[in-house]
Amino acid sequence: MRYRLAIAVILPLASVIWLNRGVDAAPEGRAAAKAANSSAGASNNPTSLAKLKALYRRPAKAEFPSDNPFSEAKAALGRKLFFDTALSGPRTHSCGTCHQPSLAWADGRARALGVNGQTLPLRTPTLVDVWSVPVLGWDGKFPDLESVAFTPILSPGNMGMPSAEEAVRRVNENPDYSPLFADAFDTPEITQRKIELALATFERTITSRDAPFDRWIKGDERAISRSAKRGFVLFNGKANCAACHSGPSFTDGSFHDIGSATDGDIGRGRMFPNSEKLRYAFKVPTLREVDRRAPYMHDGAVASLQDVIALYDKGGIDRPSRSDEIRPLHLTRREKNDLLAFLRTLTAKPDIKAPASAGAN
Ligand code: HEC
Ligand code: HEC
Repeated sequence: MRYRLAIAVILPLASVIWLNRGVDAAPEGRAAAKAANSSAGASNNPTSLAKLKALYRRPAKAEFPSDNPFSEAKAALGRKLFFDTALSGPRTHSCGTCHQPSLAWADGRARALGVNGQTLPLRTPTLVDVWSVPVLGWDGKFPDLESVAFTPILSPGNMGMPSAEEAVRRVNENPDYSPLFADAFDTPEITQRKIELALATFERTITSRDAPFDRWIKGDERAISRSAKRGFVLFNGKANCAACHSGPSFTDGSFHDIGSATDGDIGRGRMFPNSEKLRYAFKVPTLREVDRRAPYMHDGAVASLQDVIALYDKGGIDRPSRSDEIRPLHLTRREKNDLLAFLRTLTAKPDIKAPASAGAN
């Protein structure tokens, strides 16, 4: 009863927040940014610098939804499915072909390469901290992680599986799976829903790990350079990055036009045709592991982190849809270097637990 009541309260609230995300930055992101901006120049003020650092502390663990709770068995099954090429039509692609652990769970390409050598219109996003992303896809077309998997599986240019039934049949034909499904769920039957639940559970375990930045905010002054420390203050102050890249994963999950997209893809604008501000709006990506996954943006149009900083410094393309938070920054050369040094502290050492075969094709 009490549970139902909670849902009844949470659902309307959630839809308001979701709509907000469609139209503008999430309220908590704004609050954090405001807090951050008011501490511009905080480098000399230990109290406000400490407050600023606290905004970026990683949570102890990922959250799992109550209708798909974590279990070791489900995550292990999801991991096997994630790296199984049987889920693509010609058996050449697994999820891990594009979301490669060694490339921060992306693929290092400007645009993803699907089955039969087809180039997709979008760049593969990282899956690091994907558990915390409120709506998924560059344009936010997926409401939750469970709903993503069968889109790439069935998309002719992506994994090219002719039908969901064929995908389930492929999993069934491998005798290894039946005991794994029995462990992960009450019954050994293999269904599309169980494949979705297991994949999503595994993906929620792909969390960011301790980077030099995290060691610094926990108190190790030697973990990052002085230049990077100045860069952190700029990020939250003059450069205004934290207006959108706020919180432990450096994103507030909102959608904006940063004045970069130039081709026909209008991103979230497709879903909100009456909103001027959502034309060319794409999801604010996490900046975790950012140094390991060039090129950047939804279309891979920006080659390097230096080029990203140059784009923001210029203020992108000045057009009606451009976010009000984007404007020419007039950064000095030293400030650009400091910002770059800071961004590079967000990358942890490569994950040694990743299977060697992942993304081999
Ligand atoms: C051919 C490369 C490719 C393969 C294979 C692939 N993906 Fe992706 N993935 C992408 C691209 C490109 C996007 C962006 C799609 C969009 O925004 O509409 C994406 C987006 C995602 C997202 C959304 C992430 C976010 O932050 O919004 C998730 C989750 C995801 N993929 C999981 C999977 C799973 C699970 C599989 C296997 C069933 C898979 N992908 C297979 C390229 C690939
Ligand atoms: C108005 C919100 C906003 C502000 C302010 C902002 N960004 Fe972004 N950032 C975005 C969005 C949205 C994208 C994705 C755009 C796309 O895919 O076309 C992005 C993409 C990026 C990327 C590429 C990440 C990837 O995986 O492709 C980097 C790096 C980045 N921003 C760094 C910064 C820095 C540094 C600043 C400050 C100088 C900054 N951002 C300011 C919204 C913002």
